Amino acid sequence: MNILLISGSTRKGSLNKSLLEAAAEEAHNLKYSITTLPDELASFPLYHAEIEGDAANQKQLTSLRQHIDAADVILISSPEYNGFHSPHLHNVFTWASRKEAGKTTSVLEGKVVGLLGAAPGPFGGVRMLPRLSSFAGDHGCWVHPRYVAVGNMGSRLNDAGQLTCDETRQKLRNLIGETCRMAEPVQQLEPA
Ligand SMILES: Cc1cc2nc3c(=O)[nH]c(=O)nc-3n(C[C@H](O)[C@H](O)[C@H](O)COP(=O)(O)O)c2cc1C
Repeated sequence: MNILLISGSTRKGSLNKSLLEAAAEEAHNLKYSITTLPDELASFPLYHAEIEGDAANQKQLTSLRQHIDAADVILISSPEYNGFHSPHLHNVFTWASRKEAGKTTSVLEGKVVGLLGAAPGPFGGVRMLPRLSSFAGDHGCWVHPRYVAVGNMGSRLNDAGQLTCDETRQKLRNLIGETCRMAEPVQQLEPA
């Protein structure tokens, strides 16, 4: 089972990156294989049709598609901005939603997804997560119905930005295990 980690923030010192790093450690302990989508690969220019065909963007899109295609499960952790997922994450989805020539579906279709959110405030992105679930579902993803929303994230990290909160780590293990189990039957489905 291959898990792809996507952060909705490319910020240095991002709380969501810290949460995904802890998720990667827990997934590794559960014997899953993990790939993190590199920041530079997720950092597309803001999508519009006139730049879609540019060679550099197409090269980047091919690489993004390869990462998504190779994943059985995608774990996404996004900041909440005014109740919604980040503009950065929205842009990644928009690019990934573009179908490769000759394909009838985008690479996102049928992907099993688990959702996380981390915030410095108390709620951890609880307004954003159901909206992100609906958004990912609209792209053809199968989204695990439970989320991990981590509020007061700063207080759960040590000086090196590592998650020290056992309760949060347990929630990560639960979500990772359940989402990977959800992906098992999907792996066996014939493509539509
Ligand atoms: C424009 C803006 C809107 C924000 N809206 C919310 C919000 O609705 N809920 C929330 O919990 N935090 C909100 N925040 C705070 C972010 O959660 C915080 O900046 C977080 O650290 C960003 O994620 P990152 O650390 O992974 O980059 C907002 C921040 C900005 C700049």
